[in-house]
This record gives sequence, C-alpha cells and structure tokens, in this order.
Amino acid sequence: MKLRTLSATMLILGSFFLMVGTLLFAGEQIQHGFDVETLTKAFSQISQVITGDWRQLGLEFTRLQGQVFWKLYLAAITVVPGLFLLHYLIFGPKAFPHRGKVIAYYTLFVRLAHWLAAISFTLLVVTGFMVIFGRYLGGGHLVMGARLIHIPSAVVFVISAVILFPYWLKDMLPAGCDLRWFLILGGYLSRKKEPVPADKFNAGQKIWFWLATIGGLVMAYSGYYLFTFKADVNGLRWWAIVHNLLGIAIVTFFLIHLYMSVFVVKGSLKSMITGFKSEDEVAIMHSRYYQRLEK
Ligand code: HEM
Repeated sequence: MKLRTLSATMLILGSFFLMVGTLLFAGEQIQHGFDVETLTKAFSQISQVITGDWRQLGLEFTRLQGQVFWKLYLAAITVVPGLFLLHYLIFGPKAFPHRGKVIAYYTLFVRLAHWLAAISFTLLVVTGFMVIFGRYLGGGHLVMGARLIHIPSAVVFVISAVILFPYWLKDMLPAGCDLRWFLILGGYLSRKKEPVPADKFNAGQKIWFWLATIGGLVMAYSGYYLFTFKADVNGLRWWAIVHNLLGIAIVTFFLIHLYMSVFVVKGSLKSMITGFKSEDEVAIMHSRYYQRLEK
C-alpha cells in the first residue's frame, strides 16, 4: 500500500472514531451535563458583541441575521424538496435494467472517504439547523449538544474533503460537453433515455464537487473565526455573512445531490456502495466517457 493511501486510511479511521466519540460524549452531555445558565449567558454576550455596535456593518448584519438568512434556510428545506416532488411526479426516475457488464467507478478508498464526508456533512447540516432554529427546539441542552457536535463534524468533513479532492480533481475539471449538458439540463426534464453529453462526471456533479470541497473549506474557515472570535467585530460580521450565504447554497446543492443520487438515477446509491455502475447507465448518463472506454 502506498504511503499516501496508508496515511489517508489512518486519517479516515481516526475520523470515524472521532465522530463516534463525539456523538457518545454529546449524548452524555445532553442527558446530564451542561451548565445551561452559564452557557446561555456566554452566548447572549457574544451575540451582543456582534450585533450591538451599529456602526459599519451593524445594521445590515442584524437585518440579514434576523430577517433574511433563516427564511432562505427554511426555503432551502421546504421549497427545494417540494420542487423535487413535482419533478419526480412529472418526469420520474431514470431507471436502467442494470443487466450485462459493470464498469468500475469508485475505488474502496474513495467510497470510504465519501461516506465519511456524507456522515460528517449530514451531522453538520442537522446540527447547523438545530442552532439556527434553536429557539423552536426550546434551546438548552439539545441546542448546546448540537453546537458540540457541529465543530468536530466540521473537522472530520474537512479531512474527508481534503482526502477526496486530489482523487476526483482530474475528472471534475470543466470540459466541452458540460455546456451541452447545461443546454439540455442533463436530460432530467425528459422521460426519454437518450445519451447525455457527459464525461465520467456530468456538469451538475462537477458543480457539487467544487461547491462541497472548496466551499466546504471556506465554511470551515469562516466557522473557525465565528468559533474562536479571532477577528474584530466587523470581521466577525463578514465571516457570519459568508458562513450563512455559502451555507444556504451548499445545503441547497446537498439536497439536490441527495435527490439525484438516491431517487432520480436508480442504481447510483448502489454504485457508491459497491463501486460499480452498470454499462447501460454509463452509456446513457455519461455517454462521452463510455465512448472513450469503448475505444
Ligand atoms: C448522506 C449524504 C450523501 C449521500 C447519500 C451521497 C450519495 C452519493 C452517491 C450515491 C453518489 C454516486 C453518484 C453516481 O455516481 O451516480 C455520490 C457521489 C458523489 N458524492 Fe455524495 N453523497 C452524500 C454526501 C456527499 C458529501 C457531503 C459530499 C461532499 C464532499 C459528496 C460528494 C460527492 C461527489 C463529489 C460525488 C461524485 C459526483 C457526484 O455524483 O456528484 N457527497 N454521492
């Protein structure tokens, strides 16, 4: 085993343990721990520091934070799935017989790192929403637990994104067929199964890759400032705005990624478990890649 693969495998295993340890610890804390009064006081002081000074970004920040962001987050988790439902009812899934040859798509290593990303990112999204809508959950232990899980999940996600990035980079660079893919919206607005102009990954998958990895790192970087307070008041406001705007975009694309890979392209989820895709699926959904394999 190469040194790079060995160290990445160690990191993946370490991250899995970190994740499990954090969840167990948070569960324990939610049940018995947390000095809620002290923590609540600390958080109200923090929010006073960020919103209290009305000079510079103060007014705009408070408006965005208090009136805009939560509505956009809410729209992302209500309107977007509503559109998916409509899409599913009108166009249905892309199902293939999955007979015949299979094509190797994802190595075991990539699959492990992907599932690490999937678990940590799902935790990030769920706990992030618990923090945003904490007052409707009654605040207290549950929201404190969510904050506690949010930070190590971010660390684990960054590790998985950094591992995945070089493995997928080459196949995620823009290609000529991406433009043609956009023009027909990947063939998803049609029930027909005609060859779609796409390489190993289509243009939509490429957008998700860049948003999730580079966007995810910016989320982590901005989150670091919000967590440590290592910036002046105006700097913190900027980071909070970046964290929220990017968060809304990433959550939206994350839901699209889930919908596409779990509901629309039947067999996708299996490929992320076994590593193989059926030839008939690749021939239609990744026609350019298939033509290259044929040669
Ligand atoms: C519960 C969460 C997730 C599920 C169920 C899931 C599922 C899948 C599946 C089934 C595929 C294979 C798609 C195909 O080739 O047809 C896939 C691919 C991929 N996943 Fe995920 N995934 C999740 C989270 C994530 C996260 C957090 C990232 C961020 C790094 C990510 C990044 C990717 C990328 C870049 C690909 C390859 C291109 C693509 O299909 O978009 N996934 N995922």
